[in-house]
Amino acid sequence: MSKEIEDHRILNRSGNEPFSSVLERHISRRGVMHGGMGMAAMTMMSGFGLVGCSDDDDNDGGGDTPDVEPLALGFESIRGSKTDAIVVPEGYTAQVLIPWGTPLNNSVGQWSTDRRMTPEYQAASVGMNHDGMYHFPLSEESASREFIMALNNEYIDQSALWAPQGGPTNQQGGDRPVDEVRTEINAYGITIVRLSKNSDNIWSSDTGSRYNRRITTGTPIELSGPVRGSDYVVTAYSNDGTRTRGTNNNCANGFTPWGTYLTCEENWPGIFIKNSDRYADDDRLGILRERSIWGWETAASQGSNGEFARFDATPAAASARGDYRNEPRTFGYVVEIDPYGNTTSVSTETAALKRTLLGRFRHEGCWPGKLTEGEPVVFYTGHDARNEYIYKFVSAANWDPADANRPGEDYDRLAIGSKYMDEGTLYVARFDADGSGEWLALTPDATTQDGRRLSDALGIGADDMAGVLINTCDAADMLGATPMDRPEWGTVDPASGDVYMTLTNNSDRTAEGMAATYTDDASSIEALGAGYDTAPVNAANPRPDNEAGQVIRWREPSAGATTFEWNIFVFGAAAGDTDNFSGLTELNQFASPDGLWYDDRGDGRGILWIETDNGYDGVLDYTNDQVLAVVPSTVSIGPGDQAVVNPDDQAQLRRFAVGPNGCEVTGIFATPDRTSLFINIQHPGNWPADPNQNVQSATEATSGTVRPRASTVVIQKLDGGAVGV
Ligand code: FEO
Ligand code: CA
Ligand code: CA
Repeated sequence: MSKEIEDHRILNRSGNEPFSSVLERHISRRGVMHGGMGMAAMTMMSGFGLVGCSDDDDNDGGGDTPDVEPLALGFESIRGSKTDAIVVPEGYTAQVLIPWGTPLNNSVGQWSTDRRMTPEYQAASVGMNHDGMYHFPLSEESASREFIMALNNEYIDQSALWAPQGGPTNQQGGDRPVDEVRTEINAYGITIVRLSKNSDNIWSSDTGSRYNRRITTGTPIELSGPVRGSDYVVTAYSNDGTRTRGTNNNCANGFTPWGTYLTCEENWPGIFIKNSDRYADDDRLGILRERSIWGWETAASQGSNGEFARFDATPAAASARGDYRNEPRTFGYVVEIDPYGNTTSVSTETAALKRTLLGRFRHEGCWPGKLTEGEPVVFYTGHDARNEYIYKFVSAANWDPADANRPGEDYDRLAIGSKYMDEGTLYVARFDADGSGEWLALTPDATTQDGRRLSDALGIGADDMAGVLINTCDAADMLGATPMDRPEWGTVDPASGDVYMTLTNNSDRTAEGMAATYTDDASSIEALGAGYDTAPVNAANPRPDNEAGQVIRWREPSAGATTFEWNIFVFGAAAGDTDNFSGLTELNQFASPDGLWYDDRGDGRGILWIETDNGYDGVLDYTNDQVLAVVPSTVSIGPGDQAVVNPDDQAQLRRFAVGPNGCEVTGIFATPDRTSLFINIQHPGNWPADPNQNVQSATEATSGTVRPRASTVVIQKLDGGAVGV
């Protein structure tokens, strides 16, 4: 996400102990361990990361099994880069694929760099600012040559969108023109497009494929799960509270074993305003006042059926049935999409359902846990805001392999999704100082830290699960969850079940701690202070002002477990930083880890890919955003004991690719044969080089100035082999 749409307010007013404090005590404890800790604690951590505590030689607890040769990265770490081009290792190529504006069908004409964007063209072409994405096979046999791609288009870049006319109209004040608003709404959302590669290994989109479609911030979508049909989501558009229009700020993603796509609503509060009668959740999630980020509500008089009026949630009628006071409550969810397009389970034309039981907040993404027949299906999600939380969903139904995706068959995958995602338990994480943790169930009958029934503490009905979900963040506060340094992407090693999650940065937590100076003036975009009485500060705390972020890892005894063990996998840093706990060098220094993917290569072996969205000058001065790779089984906790990746491991953590100026690198997967690695270049400043072509080299530097286009990039080896090794 660009800095432009980041929200720097701290909205979590709970006094829960911040993660940095837990981490500080955890690190101190490890120091004690090396000095001769008691056997009980050592046994607890055995097999998960501590030197001398593991019972195999890998001692990282994840990935390779002792009798399998570990993977070895097959490329040399590349140097940083600050150019209008992508850089990849020697022996690799990179091509541009489906840049913003690539037509999905033959009805709207071709892209050209002087094209004036219209609602109709944008609705029929690839959206803006690519983010999370995933691939869905058309057959098992062809899965590495062709597939349906589902792609998030996280947000809009108005300067690129409106370049031919010199920028947007009335962005700062006055009414926005209806065509501009409709176009912007259509530039958000999801792109679904069939992709294939030719005999020269060049990938392209299949214009006119029956699978191609867009889901935008205006597309009708049904709600599912406990919030569906509740009074919380009754609007003038949906008097029975079963549907809404659109999904927005779709950031990271996920997928299900039954062949559906998960897209997650992150910074959606910015598209709404509410000037009176605000709910507690409006404040907690940051619904704006007066004017929304793009001013879409100012077109209200030009739309019908609340097309634009819905972006102003200020009560305007006698009851919720007559206005859009509840419209923001229809956002903030994980949305499940059938990429194959079967609509049997829905009353809309959109093969999608908002899965409300996975919580309501600024969802970054949603990642499936280790899948085991006869055990619950698990998903991990995170709330990307400073000092917010990590969540886990555990299905009530146990996994039945008969529900696995059957490529090529048309059937009701969303009905399978309802089986696993509409009944179950949502938990929030508490990370304890001794390296253990606990999942706290978010149910109406849960007991809060101060001994009350959660439903009473929230002021909702005794069995009101919808009320718990609408107020997910407050419920998590009350149970004592651990505030984190902005959870971004997660990923799971499907063999061990180890979960990795990026904590990108948390610069708003000061070394001195913060007094409770919270104000509910949500119209200000500046940091307003936190509700914490103190933030932990002392010389031993390695991350009091965390600009560079880290990757955390945890392991659970089983899918449905309510306990886990955790450690820090790697800290971001500039090589010269005093808090460079992982010992990074010029060749692998990074900051603000964001995208993440555990690339399972079989036999319990895999590569962890890390993508960055960095604003920290210590690294930014050296390189643009990047992709790094590490084989978890080749790194280990060592001297210093702060993180799994330590100063002895620097040859194992390698810089694989660097993006063009101004971009963030995000979204990642590879074809099943691992010969094509797909990443996204979001908000590039002046790239790709040829402003008129949809397919071109990604490594050619732009000459002059172009209208930038966010794009997918496919990285392949010149010899056609598997990437990374
Ligand atoms: Fe859209 Fe948290 O990144
Ligand atoms: Ca992100
Ligand atoms: Ca980010």
